[in-house]
Amino acid sequence: MKILAIGDVVGRRAIDYLGKTLRSTAASLGADLVICNGENASEIHGLNKSDAEALLDAGADLITLGNHAFGSRDLYGFLDDRSDVIIRPANYPAACPGTGYTIREVSGLRVLCVNLSGTAFMDELDNPFATVDRILDREKGSYDITLLDFHAEATSEKLAMGYHLDGRVNIVFGTHTHVPTADTRVLPKGTGYVTDLGMTGPTNGILGTDAEAVLYKMRTHMPTRFTVADGAIEAQGVLFTLEDKKPYRCVKVERITF
Ligand SMILES: [Fe+2]
Repeated sequence: MKILAIGDVVGRRAIDYLGKTLRSTAASLGADLVICNGENASEIHGLNKSDAEALLDAGADLITLGNHAFGSRDLYGFLDDRSDVIIRPANYPAACPGTGYTIREVSGLRVLCVNLSGTAFMDELDNPFATVDRILDREKGSYDITLLDFHAEATSEKLAMGYHLDGRVNIVFGTHTHVPTADTRVLPKGTGYVTDLGMTGPTNGILGTDAEAVLYKMRTHMPTRFTVADGAIEAQGVLFTLEDKKPYRCVKVERITF
């Protein structure tokens, strides 16, 4: 089993780029499941319904989200109706649209896919460690493989989550910071891990955003409208390879760019 996780998609041009490249890349890598974090895909601050559909058309089997999950109102109904293809962090209040996990059938195996938000330097949501424990308990017996997109700011919180779930969840990857980390590895009890996938968007800006706008904000603290940077697009992600037999330990974690 191979699972390809693609870092935060920033802007409409990045969706178009994936439309031209993702299916062929996933096929050449032999990926059985493709997951994209899409929370910045509609020009940074969220994801709207038509862009979500475009991302699915581009070859994402599942979209995960984060702190901008509810940035576009027209996504709310889609989040409720299509939790098989799009999930938002599970530790938001239950009253929020959508759901925080889904179980996908992939090559005859049931893959429990979970999305969580960190709470260090981010919104004060339910404790992500307790939340994932509850989900694993609740769904015990109904999945073969588990993966987590932990959308978080602090490297320490992400790595702590990796160790918290080591041997219980097959894959833990971080998103949100848009900077790819070099710590691809298999944790001691067999969980494939990386602190941050990176992003899919213009390499020329600051985290995908036009550099001038970010610099103006940081120099002056004045209100600033952020726009997606110009220039060439690059997709960044990680390919996880799992053993073919129970307990489907991760054996390889490789960084992918295209
Ligand atoms: Fe984010």
